[in-house]
Amino acid sequence: MGVRIIATGKALPKLRVDNDRIKDFVDTDSEWITSRTGIEARHVAEEETALDISVQAARQAMRGDGIFGAGSLGVGPIDTSDIGLLIFATVTPDMLVPSMGALVKKEMGLENAISFDLNAACSGFIFGTWVAESLMRTAGIKRALVIGSERLSRIVNWEDRGTCILFGDGAGAVILELDPEKPGIIGFHIQNYDDVGDALTCGMSYKTTPFTKETQKRPMYLEMNGTQVFRFAVGAVTEVMEKVLEKTGLKVTDINYFVPHQANIRIISNVAQKFNIPMEKFQVSIENTGNTSAASVPMALDDLLRSGKVKAGDKVMLVGFGGGLSAGAIIMEF
Ligand SMILES: CC(C)(COP(=O)(O)OP(=O)(O)OC[C@H]1O[C@@H](n2cnc3c(N)ncnc32)[C@H](O)[C@@H]1OP(=O)(O)O)[C@@H](O)C(=O)NCCC(=O)NCCS
Repeated sequence: MGVRIIATGKALPKLRVDNDRIKDFVDTDSEWITSRTGIEARHVAEEETALDISVQAARQAMRGDGIFGAGSLGVGPIDTSDIGLLIFATVTPDMLVPSMGALVKKEMGLENAISFDLNAACSGFIFGTWVAESLMRTAGIKRALVIGSERLSRIVNWEDRGTCILFGDGAGAVILELDPEKPGIIGFHIQNYDDVGDALTCGMSYKTTPFTKETQKRPMYLEMNGTQVFRFAVGAVTEVMEKVLEKTGLKVTDINYFVPHQANIRIISNVAQKFNIPMEKFQVSIENTGNTSAASVPMALDDLLRSGKVKAGDKVMLVGFGGGLSAGAIIMEF
């Protein structure tokens, strides 16, 4: 019995901000951004809430249309009452209470869904899928919705050229199904690392009480040591990929496609070189989205599946890494 992905969806806010537009805010140039990161543009929510784009992505997934290459026509529309679990991965919810999971459940009328939010930063979708798979097996939940969604533009410091060029907004959604016939997800490796040097942080702003003595330590926007995070990313991605291959007894050449977290094209090409994997096997969607944190892997997976390249029986590896520090890899068969 396996848990497999049967449908995907994605949504981006309407406003597309290309690199030239960023020059209005910080001293940078388009060529620098593209050559160092692979990013040409990102989408920024002006009017849309995180809920809006998340529901849009989830509704697209619920249509269950044909997303695979030869041999699969898609599962067709999925009934809202079929969803027994909804895990929402984000670090930028519209509000803390209700959770984003609860808001999506209400908006979409998912009457049978147990819903909650999960924060594992840019690894959120990988962690969410891992939790969903385990809950589905143990609690016998037939279908689940996992959403990775961010409005990072509201925690980005638009005066810091070291970070504001990198991030964007978006949402990705997948529907998982417990299937007695298909293997689906074959293996996981999930790992946390301590962020000893505070390489990637975003503080919180709280209302003080009459008794509060401490002062706020960190601002409520993303702060990052790019070089440290780059080094961590290449090392962690290598480690989780090696471990998931070891656990599943597969070789890197057994994997047809890789869907990595879209943070920097140089991180992806570095890993490709280390494993001697041709770049054509990596889904690269970063040029039009930037780094969308928890949304990046499900959105890139949606791009890969809609390209028609993945055929029935193909093996795909999803890989994420991010704040925490955190990382994880999943291998699944379609
Ligand atoms: C952020 C990142 C693109 C910076 O690239 P880099 O090659 O490490 O660049 P550096 O930070 O060493 O900066 C090199 C120079 O470019 C400058 N620079 C930084 N940002 C710039 C920008 N947006 N435009 C122009 N110049 C810039 C720096 O000031 C520095 O100038 P200096 O040499 O005169 O001091 C890169 O470190 C990175 O992608 N790190 C990983 C980030 C990540 O993935 N985060 C999310 C994890 S989930």
